[in-house]
Amino acid sequence: MIPSIKNICCIGAGYVGGPTMSVFADRCPNIEVNVVDVNKERISLWNSSNLNDLPIYEPGLKEIISRCKGRNLNFSTDVKKYIQLADMIFISVNTPTKKKGIGAGQASDLKWVEACARQVAEFAKGYTIVVEKSTLPVKTAEVIKKILDSTQTSPDKKFDKSFDVLSNPEFLSEGSAINDLENPDRVLIGGENENAISALSNIYKNWIPANKILHTNIWSSELAKLTANAFLAQRISSINSISALCEATGADVREVARAIGTDSRIGSKFLDSGPGFGGSCFKKDILNLVYLSKYFGLPEVASFWEGVVKLNNWHQHRISELIVKKLFGTTSGKKICIFGFAFKANTNDTRESAAIKICKDLLEEGSILFIHDPKVDPKQIEKDLGIKQSVLNGEISNVEHLSKYEGNWFFTNKIIPATYEADALCFLTEWEEYSELDWNLISQKMRKPAWVFDSRSIVSAKEVKKAGLNLWRIGDSSY
Ligand code: NAD
Ligand code: UDX
Repeated sequence: MIPSIKNICCIGAGYVGGPTMSVFADRCPNIEVNVVDVNKERISLWNSSNLNDLPIYEPGLKEIISRCKGRNLNFSTDVKKYIQLADMIFISVNTPTKKKGIGAGQASDLKWVEACARQVAEFAKGYTIVVEKSTLPVKTAEVIKKILDSTQTSPDKKFDKSFDVLSNPEFLSEGSAINDLENPDRVLIGGENENAISALSNIYKNWIPANKILHTNIWSSELAKLTANAFLAQRISSINSISALCEATGADVREVARAIGTDSRIGSKFLDSGPGFGGSCFKKDILNLVYLSKYFGLPEVASFWEGVVKLNNWHQHRISELIVKKLFGTTSGKKICIFGFAFKANTNDTRESAAIKICKDLLEEGSILFIHDPKVDPKQIEKDLGIKQSVLNGEISNVEHLSKYEGNWFFTNKIIPATYEADALCFLTEWEEYSELDWNLISQKMRKPAWVFDSRSIVSAKEVKKAGLNLWRIGDSSY
């Protein structure tokens, strides 16, 4: 019999758990959705009455939360209570790369997933379907199942429990998460038990056509998620490698991307050359694939995928090096504005952002950075750079006073005033507002010779040049 799901618990109220469960609650008003997390601060932000305080910025998220919270969507730290109530439990916790021990630097650290499985094993009642939403190495479902099966009956024998485990990886991209969740290219469900698979499919069928819901075995589902991210990241490393060649040869990477993207076998998406891919997923998931390949005795496969990450690291340093080179070999004591710190536009997430590496390189060179981002909290930048931000006492109008801030950074929420007496502006995230700047005004403010470094092809190259500024743009040597 196909179980009817009335109560869902999602463990992990992060970038995946929060938006995913919001859309579930919105599209399934008859299901009670409870999102739990051990992070009290995060849960209190989800529960804030001011929707501008949500812990995650995603276009469209606020509107859904305001419709569903208190109706059939609830955020809580009471993990035990909501596991007990649930017919279906999603595990949506973090799975970062292991920092120490066997597989350090490559394998996924599964301690949070294991902790969840133990909590579920302890608190669940009756029959429960456990769904892996986190991105996990192949064969993790087996580990989860073993933990669950070891406690199928409560010690006091008050109630029996039984479980089925499904893999249902999430393919959303940050910045477009709500649209991706509402209109996914596909939903992937891996598992063995047909009834459990149907129970999860039936939830998705509330808003997704049946032909977009794919069923596979559990291992294919786990591997498909890692493979999808590896293929996407591989495209970015491929086009970024070509950007360096374009700069050396006089070709233009945008033209090359357009020319190859019209080949329907290649396709036009994911061919924007930039400062190197960031985000919490690509590097972690490829390294995981590398680890798995080595573990299963396939060193050639491992080194093929490792190349994608190596190219990305090289590319990010290439950008900081060329900034220093263009500024006469030193940026010590020079004022550089960093525009964009998030790993991509429309998110406040900075995990693995190219901006972190590039800013660290520039600070090491003694640059004085003024960092702007419309959504990232300066406290997050402090954590990422490992340096507290400096505070100016009205000295922004006098560049001489800045020299004592070599190797330090300031946060700024105003673009034009920040450019005053700047030696260079560096665009690292493609925020829309950077495409509409008054370049004549900016040029009047900057110290000459002044440089604009555009790693995102976001500024108007013609206007920058017309305003008398030097321009470097990714994959283009014509300026
Ligand atoms: P996140 O770090 O934003 O959120 C994870 C949350 O889980 C944290 O708030 C943490 O406190 C909580 N948590 C950890 N252990 C817990 C426990 N035992 N009980 C209760 N709460 C616990 O992570 P995320 O970005 O949402 O990613 C989650 C998973 O989804 C990862 O495996 C990731 O690879 C995958 N994924 C992420 C994205 C993305 O765009 N961020 C997209 C697809 C898949
Ligand atoms: C990615 C996958 O796209 C998504 O399917 C998966 O679920 C999670 O990982 P995300 O990391 O949120 O999503 O964003 P994505 O749009 O893939 O961008 C990742 C990085 O690649 C960003 O730094 C982005 O700026 C960069 N990128 C993307 C490029 O440099 N060029 C492109 O053409 C596309």
